[in-house]
Amino acid sequence: MELDAPRVLPSNIYLVGLMGSGKSTLGHHLAQALKREFIDLDALIERESGQSIREIFFEHGENYFRNLESTCLFEVVKQREKVVALGGGAILRERNRELIRSSGFSIYLKVNPKILAERLGDCSARPLLQGLDANAKLERLRDLLQERQSFYEQADLIVPNEGSSEKALARITSALERLCKLSK
Ligand code: S3P
Repeated sequence: MELDAPRVLPSNIYLVGLMGSGKSTLGHHLAQALKREFIDLDALIERESGQSIREIFFEHGENYFRNLESTCLFEVVKQREKVVALGGGAILRERNRELIRSSGFSIYLKVNPKILAERLGDCSARPLLQGLDANAKLERLRDLLQERQSFYEQADLIVPNEGSSEKALARITSALERLCKLSK
């Protein structure tokens, strides 16, 4: 996908992708590399609501969680120069996708569901995968990807993250450097 140079520099950088794709880990490293503040949207939701993601899902249901997610995203998009790890489903609502597009640069961390299923050990904090055995978890991740892939692929940059996070980080920073040069 073509990179849109003037849009990236002062704007937020959003990491999107399925659960386990490395958004929080890589987001943290990327924020350090760019000397920006890191925001984890799920952590923000937990702070704002005073409940864990798991409690929110089980006590109030997914739709209630999605409303909280949209509200917190709305607060985040008003900020500038942040690196933001979004929850895997934050791109489901069209309004959220518009907010992301208009306030920043998005990076899709692309990982095969098979690798995700291996990576995601204990899923007690992830209500959409909780209680599933290995096969059911893989099936669930495949279904989620099928539902979301076209949204993830609307990102400004697509980066595979199946190996070391250093490699993915290097790809991201060199793409951003190219962009900076282009926009000068
Ligand atoms: C979700 C992903 C989770 C969290 C919630 C729902 C999803 O975030 O927001 O459990 O719908 O894919 P991570 O992608 O950070 O695990």
